[in-house]
Formats: sequence, C-alpha cells, structure tokens
Amino acid sequence: MEILRIQGGQRLEGRVQVSGSKNAALPQFAAALLSGEETILENVPDLSDVRFMGEILAHLGADIERLGQNAWKIHPANIHPDAPYELVRKMRASICLLGPLVARLKRAKIPMPGGCVIGHRPIDLHLRALNEMGANVSLNQGVVEVDGTSMKPATIFIGGRHGSTVTGTANAIMASVLTQGTTVLDGAACEPEILDLCTMLEKMGAKISGAGSHLLKIEGVEKLQGCTHRVIPDRIEAATYIMAGAITRGEVCVQGIQPSHLGAFAKVMKESGIQLQELGEDTIEVKTDPSGLKPFEVITLPHPGFPTDLQAQACALACTIPGLSILTERVYPSRFMHIPELLRMGAEVSLEGANAIVRGGKTLNGAPVMASDLRASAALILAGLVAEGETWVHRIYHLDRGYELLDKKLRNLGARIERLPESALPPAFRSPVD
Ligand code: EPU
Repeated sequence: MEILRIQGGQRLEGRVQVSGSKNAALPQFAAALLSGEETILENVPDLSDVRFMGEILAHLGADIERLGQNAWKIHPANIHPDAPYELVRKMRASICLLGPLVARLKRAKIPMPGGCVIGHRPIDLHLRALNEMGANVSLNQGVVEVDGTSMKPATIFIGGRHGSTVTGTANAIMASVLTQGTTVLDGAACEPEILDLCTMLEKMGAKISGAGSHLLKIEGVEKLQGCTHRVIPDRIEAATYIMAGAITRGEVCVQGIQPSHLGAFAKVMKESGIQLQELGEDTIEVKTDPSGLKPFEVITLPHPGFPTDLQAQACALACTIPGLSILTERVYPSRFMHIPELLRMGAEVSLEGANAIVRGGKTLNGAPVMASDLRASAALILAGLVAEGETWVHRIYHLDRGYELLDKKLRNLGARIERLPESALPPAFRSPVD
C-alpha cells in the first residue's frame, strides 16, 4: 500500500487544471448502455472508480476501449442484465446501472450496495421509483432483481427524508427515457451532474424537459442512439484546490471549471474573507489576506446548497481560521470520520449531533493519519499542507477513487507531498491507531 508524506508550511502558488467530474462520468458510463450504438465519453477523469465502472460494463458484455487517458469508447451492442458482486461491491455508484438495464433489457440483477463509512445510504428511493413505474422489484440473497416487462410512465415524487437523491434521480431518468408515455419526476435532484446526464441523454435522442430543476418531464422514446459527450469539470475537485490555496494563504488560479457550479461554496468562502475572483469564463483565482479571515458557518444540503462532498475539506480550513466555525451535516449526518484524525493533528473540534464545532486558529502538527473515505482524505491532506512537520496519510486508495493526480497537481503548486510505499515509513508510523 502507498502513503502520502506531506511536509507542511509551503504557500501554494500557480495554476491548476481541474479534471472531469467523477460523479458526472459514472452515471454517464451507465447511460451509454441505453443504446446499442457506440458512445464516446471525453474529459473522463482517470480514477479507480471509473476503471471499475469500465470493468463492470465489460462484464455486462459491452466492448470498451480507452482512447488515451481521458476518453472512453463504449459499444454495448449485446449486453446482459446480471452485474457481478465482486465488482459492484467495490463501488456504490454501480447502482446507476439499474435504470439503464431495466430500460433497455427489461431486466436487471444488481447486488445491493453494502455498508458505507460516510453513513447510512439506502436505495429505497431508487426502488420506489421503479415500483411506481410498474416494475416488479425483489431482493434475493442480497441481489436486487427487477422485472420491467410491465413498466409504464408514472408521476413520481422522488424526494426522501434528506431531500433529493442524486443517483436515485439518475436511475429514474434513465429508467423512463425508453418507457413510452410521459413520466414526471417531482423532487428530482438538480445537481450539475444530473443536468449533464440529461444533456448527454438528449444527445442520444431522449426527450427531457425541466433538466436542472426539481421537476422533470420525460417523454419516452422507442430507441436511443450513441453520442459523443464531454464530461463537465469536477466542481468538488475545483473547490478542493480553492481551499488548498486558502488554507496555505497562497495565490492559486483554478482553471477549466464552471464557476456557476460553485455558488453556495463560493458564498461561504467570500463571507469568511477569502478572495475569489473570476478570470474569464473558466478560471477562479483565490487569494487570502490572513488578517481578513473570519470563521464561517456551513450547512450541507442538496444542490444548490453547500455540498456534503466539501464539508470535510471546509472543516480542515476552519481549523486554521481563528474563532468558532460551525459545520452542520444535513445530507449524511454522521459524515465526520475526518474529525478524530484532525484531532490527532492538534485541531480543536467537538461534535454535537450532526454539528462540528471548530475552534480554529491553533497550530496544527503533522501526524500519521488515516483516510476513511474520499473526501476525508482530501481534508487530511489540506491539514497536512499547513501543519508543522510531517504528515503521513494512510489508506490513500480512497483518494485515488476520486481525485485525478492530486499529489502531482499539489506538487506543481509548490506543495511538498510525495507518494511512497508504506515500507518507507519509520516503523513507529506504519500502523496508525485503528
Ligand atoms: N437516500 C435515501 N434513500 C435513497 C437514496 C438516498 O434515504 O434511496 C438518502 C441518503 O442516505 C442521503 C441522501 O438521501 O442521506 C442523499 O443521498 P444521494 O442518493 O443523493 O447520494 P448518492 O446519489 O448515493 C451522490 C454522490 C456522493 C454525494 C451524494 C450527495 C455519486 C456517484 N455520488 O451519492 O458523492 O455525497 O450524491 O451529494 O454521484 C463523493 O463523491 O465523495 C460522494 C460520496
């Protein structure tokens, strides 16, 4: 296993290019199955999650070819509906295959995704939507089996107790694009990744109105064609680099992004005194005057609210700003696995239910820390960038699921960060407390 070693204290400077969005690309791989024709996806980030998705599609019978590092050709002329447990268990997003398989083949068999460290992640809303469209859904020995031979259009409220569901909405859209008649989805997720999925499906011939809003109307068509589609930039990666600039009080241009995707996040940054300036259409420059920084309050919500996928990184940033910051999780109320690790670095954070209360401004100290999930990994790296001494981040395979070349991009900005085999560590640091 590899680890990251970070020597803190470098002010980041320069330009960083953002990759394509993981959470847009994954459902788009699934969407390619809706047609028997060839689809080309461009600006696909080179990540382990994306490679898993490619493997699953190949297992389902699709011809898959990589066209360089960031483009994939998917030709699913002959596919079957049975997804393999060994691959599906590695990645929750494989649940996005449910909608396309049922729509195209009228049958799907997908192992139920297992537990997840960021909190309870049921799929009841995905299954309820399919049920309401007349599909017969059953669970046999841990495998979700769907018989969609009697599917019909329906009017579905797809919200749940935590608001809208992103991949649940993606599944319901993909299930209905080939179902004759008008399906209405109320309470749909309106994340940019869902809008991008709709854009791709429209290129394939789907008829969708209301894309990007909470109310979608889908007019089912008989057949879809293949398409070429460019994945949108990753807004979570972009915001992570903005916070990397801010936490080191540096001056960083984050380029290749869609600034409009950063609304609620940018507002919080500006309110806390971090200067963000749009340079042209696709670049944001971040500058930070340490004397003007203020603690901040964050409440995570579905889009257009503050993204839960940035809460951990914002928590690390708050640790460096004098005063009390409060971060409230409304999407995954127990997504705070980064906090015990930040405490190991000397942060002062207490947890009150779904609220993290950060008393910021204390100097952080480097320590061996353990990444528990993708965004927690990013938070620990941000903390390591400003900690005194060395920080070793273990279990960085989580990071490789969702950030393309993060250590290299940070190094280009001046960070002292290197990827090493675990054996390179002093023995005392090889196994942080479990
Ligand atoms: N929920 C239900 N029932 C469902 C589905 C969801 O109760 O059937 C609840 C969840 O437990 C959660 C809330 O609804 O409390 C929102 O979950 P959602 O379904 O929107 O999450 P997801 O689609 O499984 C995607 C991203 C996550 C991101 C969330 C929230 C992908 C592949 N994953 O997950 O990304 O945190 O939306 O924005 O798009 C990440 O990239 O690190 C990541 C975890």
